[in-house]
Amino acid sequence: MSERTLDILVLAGGESTERDVSLTSAKAVVRTLLQGGHRVVVMDALDGRRLRLKDDGFVDDDGRPVVSSGKSSPTALPMNGSALAARLAEAKAAGIEVVFSALHGGAGENGRMQALLEMLQIPYTGSPMAASAVAMNKDISKRVMQTLGIPTADWKRYDRLPGQAVDDVVRAFTEAHLPLPQVVKPADGGSTVGLTLVESDDQMPEAVRTALAVSNSIIAEVYFPGREITVAVLDGQALPPVEIKPSHTLYDYTCKYTKGKSQYICPAEIDAAIVQQLSRDAVRFYETIGCRGYARIDFIVASIDDYICLELNTLPGMTELSLFPMAAKAAGIDFGRLLQRLCLLGLERK
Ligand SMILES: Nc1ncnc2c1ncn2[C@@H]1O[C@H](COP(=O)(O)OP(=O)(O)O)[C@@H](O)[C@H]1O
Ligand SMILES: [Mg+2]
Repeated sequence: MSERTLDILVLAGGESTERDVSLTSAKAVVRTLLQGGHRVVVMDALDGRRLRLKDDGFVDDDGRPVVSSGKSSPTALPMNGSALAARLAEAKAAGIEVVFSALHGGAGENGRMQALLEMLQIPYTGSPMAASAVAMNKDISKRVMQTLGIPTADWKRYDRLPGQAVDDVVRAFTEAHLPLPQVVKPADGGSTVGLTLVESDDQMPEAVRTALAVSNSIIAEVYFPGREITVAVLDGQALPPVEIKPSHTLYDYTCKYTKGKSQYICPAEIDAAIVQQLSRDAVRFYETIGCRGYARIDFIVASIDDYICLELNTLPGMTELSLFPMAAKAAGIDFGRLLQRLCLLGLERK
């Protein structure tokens, strides 16, 4: 592996419901890249503002702490595309070689940011626009899984039209006659924001309302009990799987981001045949939609012939405690090496 140091711009924050998660990933990424001797600048994807690390957080050029969205208010903040494009072009002119995207959710993960970087001809880490857009849409992703023969839970998607009542959506879900329990969630969300486990019909209206607060496109999916196993794919190769043992029924926001609220076992203690099957599915899904660099594919497993794929994450969490770095470590790749590898893979595609 090359020891070459790079000029890297880390994109952080952004407009999505996962802004806070992104700022956390970015902190770990920036610290580790700096330790690796790389030259790093940080930009808030919300408005192109330069950020720098101070104590345990980011501040802007005037020393003001960056504003977080607060996980209790999942309303997306408006992103300033023209300011962002101008700042990115300036960074390119100043010698930035590659953008490391530490964004999660929204425009950072659904292909829009990737499209902007492609138009500006700035190399970046991770998957291109089309793969990002497909992976971010749970309905389309599940259709791809079906064509590949990758098992996925039955579901119904509903797109609310402007002004349409919550009751219309509830009726559409009821008329789909899917068995309970179900999981109601935004079709294009992440980090379990807006997601509810529905165990009886009377819980449906509130669940629909919660998901609609995040997106007008939502899905109701049949709940599948089992062990949560995630497979990280690095440059087309599956890494050792991780088992997640959340302390709540669902692997929710608290379990994802509070230390001690979930147990992680890596490599997962599961049958080798299951590992092989999930790894094969994960790589096929990754390749079919055209992912690049890395992705993390989430499964729920009851047994070798009874499991489902939940989703593919094109921008998985990247703190040192996150699942992707954990899987990489089990494969002998430390966090610094992993980040460098992702940057070099991004550069190769120039
Ligand atoms: N159909 C399902 N059956 C069982 N658990 C589910 C189902 N859908 C979601 N979950 C639970 O909710 C978590 C988040 O769901 P997921 O579909 O991955 O959305 P997100 O994009 O928010 O991560 C999963 O990790 C799992 O714990
Ligand atoms: Mg998930």
